[in-house]
Order: sequence, then structure tokens, then C-alpha cells
Amino acid sequence: MSSAPSHVLPQNQPEGMSQLVEVESDNPGIPAASADPSLRGPWLCSQLEAGNILFFARTPFAIPQNDREFLLGRTQTSSALHKNVAYRPAEDRLTGLAKSEEVEAERLRFILKNYSEHATQFLRELLPPYAGKWKLDFASFRPLEERGRPARLHARNDLPHFDSFPTRPTNGDRILRFFTNLNPSQNRVWNTSQTFEAIGPHFAKSIGLPRAHSTNSFARGMRGLAGALHLPGANRSLYDSFMHRCHNAMKEDASFRETCPKKRWEFPPGSSWIVLTDCVSHAVLEGQYALEQTFLISRRAMVEPERSPIAILERLAGYPLSN
Ligand code: SIN
Ligand code: FE
Repeated sequence: MSSAPSHVLPQNQPEGMSQLVEVESDNPGIPAASADPSLRGPWLCSQLEAGNILFFARTPFAIPQNDREFLLGRTQTSSALHKNVAYRPAEDRLTGLAKSEEVEAERLRFILKNYSEHATQFLRELLPPYAGKWKLDFASFRPLEERGRPARLHARNDLPHFDSFPTRPTNGDRILRFFTNLNPSQNRVWNTSQTFEAIGPHFAKSIGLPRAHSTNSFARGMRGLAGALHLPGANRSLYDSFMHRCHNAMKEDASFRETCPKKRWEFPPGSSWIVLTDCVSHAVLEGQYALEQTFLISRRAMVEPERSPIAILERLAGYPLSN
């Protein structure tokens, strides 16, 4: 794990490789909260938007010891069925548990609700430019060992990819994730490759930009009808269909995954990190027991909106890609 972030790219370093920004240490690069607190939040946001990882050697809020023990001691009866247990804050509901685990469900729901609330409160204070300009997405508990975990090609998280959720289109808004390594002894290991800013345009060339929606009234009527009938994908924007195709193309491309430049990150037990995973190409290689909360941040809240994947793609396309 590298220590302080470097602001000068070493020679020959490929463009757009993520850096680590250690927060809550005496990192001289970060505008000190005491000097002018109003500078710190926007600076941290700009680091995320550049594709850097905000890193906390210790999770910045307490997770009670008995909750940790409960999570670490969970039997893996559901493992064959579900890789994660998801918590949906808006519905205060869990998904991904096997029937036999119903007795554990209440406790798990309580722990994930707490994690979700703490992560939200923490981010509100850390990143004021984003505060409240987000949709709280799912939280998850990831109890399976990632090394060698069997999965369908497109569901494999050990292959570098930009995140795109087929069931939760963002329409150009950003995917921000807050992770915690709960494992008491094992690092969670990631690779990152180049950012969307650096390699998105290459993928746009190879897989093709989405074609603008036809403006003729018949086509518009059909789209409206599909939306009204809630047909799958009907309301998906051109942006979301591109990002989903890009996610799949990256995982399908053996030569990309073998030859792309990589940086290895080892997130130690008890640490947390924050990443905009739609612009950081990432892969998880090893690790078991993580917690995570996802936020969908309005594209309008970005401090450097022109660096967002949607802005990059719209510049290339020359027409809007959101609905
Ligand atoms: C991913 O978003 O690809 C998974 C990251 C992780 O579980 O550490
Ligand atoms: Fe991912």
C-alpha cells in the first residue's frame, strides 16, 4: 500500500492511474480542515472525480464489536445462491438471504441499517458538495472469499471494469461507494487500471457510441408506451446502455485484462475507502467480509462536471445521452 498520495506522476506512468489519498492522517497534501474547512470538501471531491481513492486506515465510525463478531460468524448457507446480502435503505429491507436464515435476518437488517446511516452521516460531513444531492442506493454485506469465487463472466468482479448496474440506471449520475474491510486478519486486495477519462474514449471507439434516439413521432410514441408498460430497459438512457455495454466488453476482453496497466491495493483489516467506481476501473482479487454503501450522486453536484463519464461521452457524441 503506498502511503501519502503523489501529485506528480512518475515518468512513464500510464495516464489516469488512480492514486491513494490518505484522509485523517497528517497528509500534507490535503487542505487542513482548520485552515479553511470550506476548501477540504471540494478538494476531496475533486480527488474522487479524478479517479483517486480516499483511504481511511481506520473506519471513521464505530462498528460495535458484537456486530462484527456476528457478521464474521455467519454460516454461509446462502453462499451458493447469493454473493451478497443487500440492504435497501428506502424500504428498510434485506434481500439475498436463504429461507433458512430468517432468524438471522432481523439482526443483519439492524447492523446494515446502522452501517448505512453512519456512512451517510459521515459522507455528509466529509463531502459537503455532494451532501443531500444523492439517492441512497443499496448497502451490502460481502461474506464470501473473493479469490477464486465462481461467477458468470459478466458478474465476475475480479476482472477490471467500470460499475454499471443494469437494474438501477443512473442517467448520468455517479456511482460512489464506501467500503469497509471487516476481516480481522486478511487484507482486501484490489487492482485498479486506468480511469474512464483515459480509456473510456477507446472503448467508445471499439464498441461504438449509442446512436441518438430517433425524433420521429412513431419512435417517440413507442418509447413512451414501453415506459408506461414498465418494459425492462424502457427507461434506460443512452448513457446507461453504453456504460452497461462497456462494463461487459471490458470483462469479455481477455487481451485488455491481461495487458492493461495495473496497480495493486491492499486494504487492511479495519480500513475503509471511497471510490467513484463508474470512473475507476477496478477488480477485487482477494478478501472476505466487507461492508459497502452505494450512493448515486447527481451529476450536477460534481465539482468538475466535465470529467464525468457522461460529459466525456457527450463531448464525443455531440448530443445528449441522458433522458
Ligand atoms: C466491485 O465493485 O467490483 C467489488 C468490490 C469489492 O467487493 O471489494
Ligand atoms: Fe465493481
